[in-house]
Amino acid sequence: MTFDFDVWCSQKLACVETALDGFIDASSPADMGVVMRYGVLGGGKRLRALLVFAASEAMHGNTDAALRAACAVEMIHAYSLIHDDMPCMDNDVLRRGKPTVHVAYGEAQALLAGDALQALAFEVLTPDAEAIPSHVQAKLCRLLARASGLDGMAGGQAIDLASVGQSLTEAQLRRMHELKTGALLKASVEMGAACQASFNGALDVLKLGGLAQYGSAVGLAFQVVDDILDVTADAATLGKTAGKDAAQNKPTYVALMGLDEAEKYAHQLLDKALAALDQCDLTQDTALRELAIRLVKRQS
Ligand code: IPE
Ligand code: IPE
Ligand code: MG
Ligand code: MG
Ligand code: MG
Repeated sequence: MTFDFDVWCSQKLACVETALDGFIDASSPADMGVVMRYGVLGGGKRLRALLVFAASEAMHGNTDAALRAACAVEMIHAYSLIHDDMPCMDNDVLRRGKPTVHVAYGEAQALLAGDALQALAFEVLTPDAEAIPSHVQAKLCRLLARASGLDGMAGGQAIDLASVGQSLTEAQLRRMHELKTGALLKASVEMGAACQASFNGALDVLKLGGLAQYGSAVGLAFQVVDDILDVTADAATLGKTAGKDAAQNKPTYVALMGLDEAEKYAHQLLDKALAALDQCDLTQDTALRELAIRLVKRQS
């Protein structure tokens, strides 16, 4: 039977949406659940979740672990967006085609919803269910914690804010992008691969290495394309304000090398990601391949 990527995507998107809906209870203190649901449900491309599923399937991972990992990574991502949009950071009013969380519910609620989503992500990764061995749960938590914190998203966001108005070298900008965005995308791939360990089989070191390289390349490519779309796309297409990087004097790949070179660079990173799949014999894995291509060629 031939693999239909679009059908695969819609099935996975439906699964992750249903699971997220079940994990976030609306009836929580002072409407916190309502605010969290507003920030997470019914929007977003869910690329991180799809990367978890694709990597897990490539490694024949445990499906419950993969679903939990996909939800956890999307919760951390949503929390990072809620905080990123707040007035103390990018001060944005539009996200996923709706008013940002702090605009809709106030800053204190936005801050707390982000905090609570971060905690919930780790709760979701550590169920009582014996079906996911504790060493797999621990590995998933470690990968996600590392990609979210000092050496990942939060660290990258700190560099981003400290770099406003500065001209960074390519190496400094790359480091910032790898941390603020790349780390969580790479972790999505690595978490998917880590679901394999639930079968207690021997780890395929070659494939794990190849997937890590693939994750690094798509992670960086993702933020380069985000920088490009900020310049080339409009708010209706993006579902978020366009042109704000230049307005806020942010260092971006477009500011550093111009639009054409930034586009070339994104395609070089795509080639690198596909070569990493080749090297570890995952070229036939259509989901990973298609995801990398779509992520770089996306319009929003
Ligand atoms: C936007 O991420 C923020 C960045 C990390 C650049 P996405 O473009 O994946 O946002 P959603 O989840 O689709 O809204
Ligand atoms: C945000 O980068 C990265 C994180 C949320 C960690 P941006 O500030 O460029 O994201 P957008 O453009 O607002 O989505
Ligand atoms: Mg930002
Ligand atoms: Mg922003
Ligand atoms: Mg951006």
